[in-house]
Amino acid sequence: MRLLPLAALSAGVLAPAAQAWGFLGHKTVALLASRHLLPETAVFVRSFLYRDQSIMDAAVWADRYAHVPFGRYSKGWHYIDARDEPPTWCGIQYNRDCGDDGGQGGCIVSALVNMTARLQDQTLPWPQRAQALRFVLHFLGDIHQPLHTEHLSRGGNGVHVLFHGRETNLHSIWDGAILEAVWGRGNDRVVAHLTNDLDGRLGPGGTYTADKETWRSCMNVSNTQDCALGWAGEANTYVCSYVLAKEVEGKELGGAYAHGAVPIIERQIAAAGYRLAGWLNMIVCGRHGLDELPGAGYTAYSGVGEDALFGVVEERHEEDVRIDRAIVEFEKMHPEVECDGLAFQGIRVQH
Ligand SMILES: *[C@@H]1O[C@H](CO)[C@@H](O)[C@H](O)[C@H]1NC(C)=O
Ligand SMILES: *[C@@H]1O[C@H](CO)[C@@H](O)[C@H](O)[C@H]1NC(C)=O
Ligand SMILES: [Zn+2]
Repeated sequence: MRLLPLAALSAGVLAPAAQAWGFLGHKTVALLASRHLLPETAVFVRSFLYRDQSIMDAAVWADRYAHVPFGRYSKGWHYIDARDEPPTWCGIQYNRDCGDDGGQGGCIVSALVNMTARLQDQTLPWPQRAQALRFVLHFLGDIHQPLHTEHLSRGGNGVHVLFHGRETNLHSIWDGAILEAVWGRGNDRVVAHLTNDLDGRLGPGGTYTADKETWRSCMNVSNTQDCALGWAGEANTYVCSYVLAKEVEGKELGGAYAHGAVPIIERQIAAAGYRLAGWLNMIVCGRHGLDELPGAGYTAYSGVGEDALFGVVEERHEEDVRIDRAIVEFEKMHPEVECDGLAFQGIRVQH
C-alpha cells in the first residue's frame, strides 16, 4: 500500500539531497517524542523553546548550525565512525571509534554525554541549556541512523549508487530519499502523517509493542555513555545485516533494496522518538514515564503532545539572534543548498 508511490514520487524526491535523517526523519522523531512526554517535561521543553520555534524546528537546528563556519566544530558530533568491516563484522568500540577525527573532537556519543549533562546543569545560562536541548533532540535521531555509526566510505558517502536512475550515494538515500519516496517530502503534514502511523504501531497490538521494553531498557541520564553506545551499536548491526549486506556500489537501489530498507528506517525513527521522550522525562522527572498509562502515547496524555509543540519564551537571546542571522546569511549565499537540503554528506565529506 504505502510502498506503491515509491516509483511515482521518486522523481521529485532527490533534489536537493537530504541531510542527516533529513528533515522528515528528525521532525518525526521530535513530534513522536512530544506525544510521550510527561506533562512536567512538556512544560520544561517549551520553556527552552522560543515562541515561534516548534519542537520539530528545534530538532533540525543542529544540522543548520553545523553548516555555518563557526558551527563547524560540532559537525563531528553527528556520528560515530565504527572501524568495523561490514558486512563481515560490525561493532562499535568507544575508544577506537570516538577519537579525535580530522581535528574534530568527539563523536555523537560524547556529544550526547555532554549535552545531556549541560541540559541538566542548572548553573548554565538559559541560552546554553536551550542549545543543549536542541542538540539532544537532534542527536537522539542521528544515533539511530545506521550509517551515522559507520566509518566505511565516510558512512557510505563514498558509495555511489543510483536511486530511480539518479546518481547519489548510499548515505544520502538512508538519510532521506528512501523514506521520502514512501511518505513524501518533509512538510509538516507529512511529518504528522508519519508520526500518527508510527505512534499507532507503538500502541496496543502494534508492530512495535513488543520492542518497547527493549527500547526503554537503558534510560540512565547519569550514565549517558553506556546508553548511547547501546543505541549506536544497535543501529550499527543493521550496517552488516542489511545496509551493506550485499554489494551496492553502482547499483540501482530504488527497487527491492529500498523496499527492504523502509521497515528498518521506520523502526529506527520510532525507537528514536520513543527513547527521546523517555530520556527527556528522565532528565525532568527522574523517571522515563513511558507507557505509564494504559494505551500510552498521544491518547494517554491528551493535549500534552500539542502543548509541547511550541515554545513560550518571547525574547530571543543575543547569541541565538547572532547564530540565526549567520545561518540565514549562509543559506542565502549558498542558494543551491536550500535549508531543506543542507546535504549532510557535504558536511561530512570534509572530515
Ligand atoms: C561540551 O559542549 C560545549 C558547548 O558546545 C563545548 O564548548 C565543550 O567543548 C563540549 N565538551 C566536550 C567534552 O565535548
Ligand atoms: C546510573 O548510572 C550511575 C552512574 O554510572 C550509577 O551509579 C547508577 O546506579 C545507575 N542507575 C541505574 C538505575 O542503573
Ligand atoms: Zn545531524
